[in-house]
Amino acid sequence: MDSLFLTTAIDYANAKPHLGHAYEKVLTDTLARFARRRGEGVRFLSGLDEHGQKVQQSAAKAGQSPQEFVDGISTHFLGLWKDLRVEPDDFLRTTEIRHRKLVQEVLTKLHTQGDIVKGTFRGFYSIRAEQFLTEKERLPDGSWPEIFGEVVELTEENYFFKLSKYQDWLKELLQKQPSLIFPEFRAKEVLGALEKPLPDLCISRPKTRLAWGIPLPFDENQVTYVWFDALLNYVTGAGSGKGRLEDWSPAVHVIGKDILVPAHGIYWPCMLKALGLPVFRELLVHGFWTRKSEKLSKSTGNVVDPKELAEKYGADSFRYYVLREMALGHDADFDEESLAARRKGELAHELGNLLQRAGSMIGRYREGKIPSAMNPDAVSEAFRATVLGALKKWDELMQNHQIHLALGELWKAVQAGNQMIEARAPWKLAKDPAKTAELDATLADAMAVLELVFEEVECVIPSTASAGLIQLGLTGKVGSRPKDWPEWPAHQAGRVLGKIDPLFPLLDEEKPKVS
Ligand code: MSP
Repeated sequence: MDSLFLTTAIDYANAKPHLGHAYEKVLTDTLARFARRRGEGVRFLSGLDEHGQKVQQSAAKAGQSPQEFVDGISTHFLGLWKDLRVEPDDFLRTTEIRHRKLVQEVLTKLHTQGDIVKGTFRGFYSIRAEQFLTEKERLPDGSWPEIFGEVVELTEENYFFKLSKYQDWLKELLQKQPSLIFPEFRAKEVLGALEKPLPDLCISRPKTRLAWGIPLPFDENQVTYVWFDALLNYVTGAGSGKGRLEDWSPAVHVIGKDILVPAHGIYWPCMLKALGLPVFRELLVHGFWTRKSEKLSKSTGNVVDPKELAEKYGADSFRYYVLREMALGHDADFDEESLAARRKGELAHELGNLLQRAGSMIGRYREGKIPSAMNPDAVSEAFRATVLGALKKWDELMQNHQIHLALGELWKAVQAGNQMIEARAPWKLAKDPAKTAELDATLADAMAVLELVFEEVECVIPSTASAGLIQLGLTGKVGSRPKDWPEWPAHQAGRVLGKIDPLFPLLDEEKPKVS
């Protein structure tokens, strides 16, 4: 099978991570684990975008040098990824030497081949915000909003990347292969932006205005524009992450909808084309989290801290909630009550209880050993068919990026397990020696569905899955699927269960009050 090169957007290192960052990294981590389970070779790359004006300004505000500042911020990101079990193979910070070298090599190559040329940039510049303004920011009466203070017309010598040269090529490519972008309606957005002639892309800034960036190798007075620098992280981190152009392999890039046009949908494929490299395999564009239908923003106090949520509900509950709640590609509204309800219902009550009930009955009736159920009766046959059918649908939906629906299918298998126990009432069977085979089948089937589900759901809730597998008497490690997957587990009989403990213990506020 092909090897999968999977990347996240690299977050701006100008503030602590928020819910949007956490969702994207959890999502990509889940895709990486799922592909590994399917037997694919995977390289999962993530990182931080550490140059540019925003970072320079935030560092100045904090009274630190930009490098000190990003070093501090990076610990928050790395700490959160550890807590959330987001485990990339490589984590690239754009201030690393391997990246600087690669960016400079690319600049030299494109400059030498005539794809980067010197030119004049003319525009309106806000002295207070220290940035060029676009026409979009202008008020209807032609003036500029107060927040920009004094605005002057400025001319600057800069370098430009000849984007226009690649416009027709890109348009044709996306017309022929709209599935390069998921969901496909996003490909239309890019094609729409390609209707008008593309201006060449200004890829440098004078050092006098912005010092915090990678210097141009052919002009010491200029630094590289942050997007040109950031996009190239995908090449630096490809292969073994040594920053070699020849290591690039077409990636699946997971990004949010705000950075599709123009950065990933236009600049990036044109840069790859100019470098003579094949275009990416896919852009996987997710939507935005909102809260009470509003943008998450510090100024409105509408922020959601993923670290706090993971501490309160557990990392796996957080991972499960964001992936179950958001239809990949669309927006979703964050609601803490709904997170708590999913934890209590689907995770604790449905998944956790199935293990707890069946596991303790095996303790009680079978001395903690999984009984054998060699000749399934009709109830078992029907149950097994339901579970295997749900697993196949889960797999199909996961491959089509319908994670929220895929989880729904997997939970049908869990629910079938609970219903089977209710219907067969093992506590009654245990009283009747004539019903031994039926009791064995019930208990063994419950263990089997749990084993199948834990192995698959590891990509979403890794710590729980591994704890669950250990309780089932296994090692807790999940390898790739057996050849004939999905197949009913064959080697369960006689296995001694581990200690049965609740996977999702009651939260303090859920515990009954003692008066
Ligand atoms: N540094 C650039 C990306 C460079 S990639 C070569 C950047 N950084 S960011 O910190 O602003 O955003 C990082 C990722 O988080 C982006 O994919 C962005 O879409 C995503 N999100 C930011 N806010 C979000 C939500 N409210 N909801 C979901 N994802 C969001 O852009």
